[in-house]
Order: sequence, then structure tokens, then C-alpha cells
Amino acid sequence: KAIHLADYRPPDWLVEKVDLDFALHPSQTRVTARLALRRNPKGAAGAPVVLEGDDLTLVRLAIDGTPLAGSSFEATGNRLTLAHPPADAFLLEIETLVDPTANTQLMGLYRTSGNYCTQCEPEGFRRITYYPDRPDVLSVFTTRIEADKQEAPILLGNGNLVESGQVPGTSRHYAVWHDPWPKPSYLFALVGGRLAKVADSFVTASGRKVELGIYVEEGKEARAGYAMDSLKRSMRWDEEAFGREYDLDVFNIVAVSDFNMGAMENKGLNVFNDKYVLASPETATDADYSGIEGVIAHEYFHNWTGNRITCRDWFQLCLKEGLTVFRDQEFSSDQRSRPVKRIADVRMLKAAQFTEDAGPLAHPVRPETYREINNFYTATVYEKGAEVVRMLKTLLGEEGFRKGMDLYFERHDGEAATIEDFVSSFADATGRDLSQFSLWYAQSGTPVLNVSGTYDEAAGTYRLDISQSVPPTPGQPEKKPMVIPLALGLVGPDGRDQPLMLGNTPVERGVVEVKEATQSFLFTGLDARPVPSLNRGFSAPVNLVSDLTEADRVFLAAHDADPFNRFDALQRIALELLKTGARTGTLPAPDALVTAARAILADPALDAAFKAQALALPGEGEVARELAREVDPDAVFAARKALRVTLGTTLAEGFTAAYAAGAASGAFSPDAASAGRRALRNLALDYLAVTGSADGIARAKAQFEAADNMTDRITALAVLAQHDVPEREAALDAFYRRFERDALVIDKWFTLQAQIASPTTLDRVKDLMLHPAFSLANPNRVRALVGAFAAANPTQFNRADGEGHAFVAEVVLTLDSKNPQVAARLLASFKTFRQLEPARRGHAEQALRRIAETPGLSPDVADIATRSLA
Ligand code: ARG
Ligand code: ZN
Repeated sequence: KAIHLADYRPPDWLVEKVDLDFALHPSQTRVTARLALRRNPKGAAGAPVVLEGDDLTLVRLAIDGTPLAGSSFEATGNRLTLAHPPADAFLLEIETLVDPTANTQLMGLYRTSGNYCTQCEPEGFRRITYYPDRPDVLSVFTTRIEADKQEAPILLGNGNLVESGQVPGTSRHYAVWHDPWPKPSYLFALVGGRLAKVADSFVTASGRKVELGIYVEEGKEARAGYAMDSLKRSMRWDEEAFGREYDLDVFNIVAVSDFNMGAMENKGLNVFNDKYVLASPETATDADYSGIEGVIAHEYFHNWTGNRITCRDWFQLCLKEGLTVFRDQEFSSDQRSRPVKRIADVRMLKAAQFTEDAGPLAHPVRPETYREINNFYTATVYEKGAEVVRMLKTLLGEEGFRKGMDLYFERHDGEAATIEDFVSSFADATGRDLSQFSLWYAQSGTPVLNVSGTYDEAAGTYRLDISQSVPPTPGQPEKKPMVIPLALGLVGPDGRDQPLMLGNTPVERGVVEVKEATQSFLFTGLDARPVPSLNRGFSAPVNLVSDLTEADRVFLAAHDADPFNRFDALQRIALELLKTGARTGTLPAPDALVTAARAILADPALDAAFKAQALALPGEGEVARELAREVDPDAVFAARKALRVTLGTTLAEGFTAAYAAGAASGAFSPDAASAGRRALRNLALDYLAVTGSADGIARAKAQFEAADNMTDRITALAVLAQHDVPEREAALDAFYRRFERDALVIDKWFTLQAQIASPTTLDRVKDLMLHPAFSLANPNRVRALVGAFAAANPTQFNRADGEGHAFVAEVVLTLDSKNPQVAARLLASFKTFRQLEPARRGHAEQALRRIAETPGLSPDVADIATRSLA
């Protein structure tokens, strides 16, 4: 059942074009597919036609118009085989029946809020019809959709609308969509239903007018404005930053409330989890707004990196995902504050990807084997994949990078490509040898970089001695040295960067390349001992271990020219305190942190968003990951709480001032500066209330009641929720009553309660699962409640009595028969269990074993359970 990259073979049959005809029906949708099949000269000689299916009911089969006798093919629910194809090119007609209402997996054709929609990536198209369902079979699709006009007044497909009308003598109507761009089946989509349209248009750089549509549930039109604005900004940005124009007459987005992931880049018809479309000041936080902007951009950018150039096979998933995440990160950096965006991205990379890389589910950015591809839509493929592209840019420089991208588009447009194709484009465009660099795609695990510095006063030199290693990961006991682009500066006593010279040569762009297991760099021309600022902008996704002292870090936090490293210096001081605190039960003296934090808080040159990031302590998860073994989550929590109390009380004056200064003036705006102001003010609120003092609670309660936007309201509620005070339950009730008709807002209410660090939370979560607003059938609800409990409440998920683990395991098993993808995702929360102290680790292992031993598991859950235990 394992599939290996090394076993790749070109397809034996190609599909020259495909005509699809859908007769939509709630339980018996009839799908007629006409495939113009042609033998692939590059395939195996004489190979049979083998088409994938999944849970299909075959009605009829015909070749070139002639019905096929049962003896000339073999059809199961999962495969259709023509052992003796009649010719090297012929038309195969396949009629299948599917039941969209019974489709609880949300893969293939399913229903959401009564509407019809599809999700085909990676292997959902085979749940619609038999097909060579692999990304290297590209075809031109024409789709006719027919439905009852009352039930589904809106009918959408890929490409451009070519025809529509009434079906004579019936209550049904139809629409025909044609997509001129050849594409693999995973990019197919259709939507049918009762939806409201928000319309706009965009004129491309070359003057093509594109009709834009965002389709939402009726009544939600006003909430799609920010998404539409983000879309138009994305379209313009891709023209300016990458020279990429849109290529169809229409671009449609449909927001649905039942969706396994964030969104999907189907050609000309993106389908979105409505969480990433709908926003209003009253219902969406600043994080929601930036999430919408980022995901709208991401799916739009896929039109070139994913659709025009697609993946040869699913091992190459990072070819489109890592690159497209990089592109959406760059877009958001240009739209907002670049340093703040970088800090947020690195925080998330460390929380999600470094943790994955350090545990049993670690895998290379380009995996070499898988059992269930759905389990590889991971932080490693997406976020580390984006870091690898970012490193390419850092190594090659702006211009070299753009040349490489241009060559990639020029060479591979219309193709299903590989990582080798991608890397070769950069190598050929710039003349650089990137073979060692390619190890970033092949070796899993986070490299460790050890750096120490020596200043020679007499010679005026500073030597950096660097060694690197990559820890062993599943299937990869030994590693080779990587190419690590290390951006750095040597900060002089006056706080300014000193010259960065190797011998007589200035270091280009401030980046040295570490390539050997051990390597030294001798910097010259220094008239004072510098403090090195290493891995500026987080130029490489590595764990940096340096000989910097706490005093060096206080200095960097105050003076570094690189904002990321100012942030990082402060975080590192805090992390060391938290690690010692968690290990010993006593926090070391926090004076250095207090000094550094005070300076940042008071610095008028820094923007509020940056201050909010710098002053927010590393999360419990990051402390646990740094401790790496024998972790007691209660001790981590206690250390972090103690440090928050210390900062909150010693810096009370500064936080009170920041809170006052951050008060709104004028109407709500989701722009970056306003969001930053709210972020700092809300962080101040959190610190001012951290002891649970009467005025802290009163301040939170007042903000909760007076808020005119969701960010301020939900943070105040989150502050109250941390404290066992009567105001907590009252505010939770009030919030529920105010927003009960708004499922996306109620998700926040679920999440907040699931995250309370209290022994009563498990019972609360169990009760909430019975709440009328909860449903196991909806992925957003499951993630908001159970997902948040498992991934964002380390003390309660890892309860010492094992009840947290047992509960999540139970939910995974219940969910597995309905929606294996979401169940497997939830189960992956166990990925950090090996770092726990023995008793908790034992409970987690027992929960995993119970799952692994359950008969009839989905391949998704079985795969995660097996790898977690290996
Ligand atoms: N390609 C989509 C995106 O990154 C993700 C879709 C994955 N869907 C899934 N069911 N695994 O934007
Ligand atoms: Zn994507």
C-alpha cells in the first residue's frame, strides 16, 4: 500500500479531452463522462486502460457509442479496467451514480447547507467518475450541469460559461462551462445551489476584462467586501511582482460552510471555507482579516503556481504549495509590515513545523513515500516548503531569483513538473550549482547550527566558528551537511552595524553560506568587539545555538538594525528563563528581560504591532519543544504564568499607558496599523489582568461590553476566561446569546472554552459536544472545539490522569467513519507525545495503541497512528 517516488511511471493512457454531464440530484446524481482516450507513446506497450474510482456505482459503459458487454471490462467501486482496449485512441463513455447527500467525507461531490459542491484535490475526482486520477494527466474539460431551477438557481463550473438555458418541458435548467486550459482532474470543480453573488471586475495589465464573482449564502453579501478587495489586490500584485496575468474571462469564488481545509484553487472556480471569505467588524478579528487576505491571495496565486504549472505526482506537492505559500507571504508583507509578517510567519513555522520535524511524523519537504497523501498537507510541505523558496531568494538575490522564476514559467507552462525542474530553472538562470541546496527537499529534521565567536583585538578580526548537524528523523538516521544562507551583522558598541568583510571583500547582501559540517569565517576591519546578530530575518529555518550572553541579547533587543532579531533576542531571553523555570520550579531573576521589555515598550520608533509580537512570551508549545524531553506541561504553564505575572506587575505603568494610548479614535478599520494598535492594547490588557486582580477583571469586563469590534471583544473574553471568576460565565453566556445565529463566531466561543487551562475544561468540552451549536459533521466545529483542546491546551490535553488523551482518541474513532481526513488531522495532535514525561507519555501511547488496534480504520487514521507509534 505504500507508494514510492522512485516507482514513478508516466501514464499509459492520456485523455485528450473530456466532456462531463451532471444531472444534479440530492441522492442520485447522474454523471456522464466522455473521455477521448489516447495511448501514451511514453507509456508501457500494450498496457490496459485502468481508471481509478472510489465508492462508485457504474450504470453504463460505451466505446465510440457502442454499449459495452460485461465481459469486456471489469468494474469495481474502486477501479475500471479494460484489459483489451479496442484501439490506440477511442471515446469511452461512462455513466455513474453518486450520492452527494451521503458524502460525509467532503471529498468528491457533496452537499453543504443544501448546495452542491466538490473537492477533488488530491484524489476526490475518482469519487465522481472513473478517471486516470493523477496530476500528470492533463485534459481540456467541458462541463454541462443540469439541476432543478428552484433547488439550484446558480450553476458554476471551471473556465468560461458558454451556454445556459431551460430544459424544455421540465423545471430544470442547465449551464455549460468550458475551460480551455488543460488541467488535471484535481482542479475540476462544480457548484450548484442557492447563492448570492457579489460582483466586481478587474482589468489585467494587458487590458483583458475579468468578471469577478464571490458567491455566499443569501444575506451574507455584505461580509464579502474584504475578500473581494483582497482578490483585486492579489491580481495586481502578481502582475507587478511576478509578471503573471489572469487567463480567463471570469474568476469565481464560492464560500461554503462545510470544508475540510482552508480553500481550493480549482481553475477559475475557487471553493473556500467560508471562514476565509466572510468578515465584518462585529464578527471577524484582525487575525481573521489577515487570514482572508492571505488565503484569497494563496488560492489566486495557484493559478500560475499549481494550475498553469502543476505537479507531476503528489510527491511534488511542495512544488505548488511551498512556492505558493512563499508568494502569499510576500504579498502580505508588501501589503502590511514586512518585519511583523516575518515574525508572525516564523512564530507559526516554529509552532507547527519545527514541532512536526522533531516528532514521529517528520518527513522531508518532498516525501519519498506515503500511504495516504491526504496526510501530507502538512506544515512541512507548506511552511518549510516556503522557507526553502525563501532561502533560494536569499542565496540568489532579488534579480537572480526573478530570473529563475521567469525561466520556470517559460519552460514549464502547461506541464506537470517536478522539484528538479524547479531547481534547474534557478541553476540554469543564474549559473549556480544547486545540487547541495536540493538536500533541503530531501532531508527531514530541523538543522542545528552551533555558532561561537572570537574577537582578536590586536588583529581587528572576529572569527565565527560554525558547526551544523541535522538530527536523525524517521527513515533518515544519517544526514549530510546543508547549504545554510546565514544573514548576519556585526553590531558595534554604538549599536550600529560594523563593516562585514571577509578579507578584503564585503559580504554580499550580508549573507554568508554555511556548507560544511564545520566552517569558520574570519571577519576583518573591526575596531571593537562586536555582538553578532545571527540568522537575521530568520534567513534559514534552523535551530541556532550560540554563545551569546544574556547581556548580548539585551543589547541586541535594544539596538539590532534587524527588527526580526530584536524580537528574537527578547524571545530568547524569555525562553531561557522559562526553560529553567519549568525544569526547576523556580524562575531565575528576570531583570534582563524586564529591562529589555521595558525598552521595547517605551521605544517611540517601534510600531505597535511589532511591540505586541516582541512582548508576547513564547508559547507553551515552544517551551516544550525547546525542553525536548521529560516535559511536564503543568510546569511549563506555571513558569510561563509566573513570568507573565512578573512582567505584568513590574511593567504595569508601561502597560497602563499603552492601553490608554491604544484606544480607538474613529471608525473601525482592518488595516495593518489599526490592527497593530489593537494588538498592543489587547496584550497590555492581558498583562494588566494576569493576576486576576479586581481592576484587571473589571477592565476586561468593561472592554468586553463596550467593544465595537470582534478583536477587542474576543480578547477581553479570552482574558476573563483565564480566571475562575463569576464574570467569566456571565460573559460567555452573553457572548453566546449575542452571536448564536453566527456559526463562525460561535466557533470562537468553542475555542476559547476549549483552551482554558483548568481541570474542569475536559468536562466543559464534553458538555459542549452536546451543545446544539456543535456538530461532528462540520469540520470547522470539530477543529474549533476538539482541535483547539488537543492542539492549544497542553495542560489539559496532556492531563496527568490520561483522560485528555483518551477523550481525543475517542472522538477520533467516532469521527473516522464519517470524515477520515478531519479525524486524521485531529489524531496528529499526538505528534509531540514523545517529549512528555513518562507517565503522560504512557497515557498518550496507550490512546494511540487503542486507535491502532481498532479494526476497520480509514487509511488516513491508520497511517497517522502507525507512524506516531513507530
Ligand atoms: N490546494 C489546497 C490549498 O493549499 C489544499 C487542498 C487540500 N485538500 C485536501 N483535501 N487535502 O490551497
Ligand atoms: Zn495551496
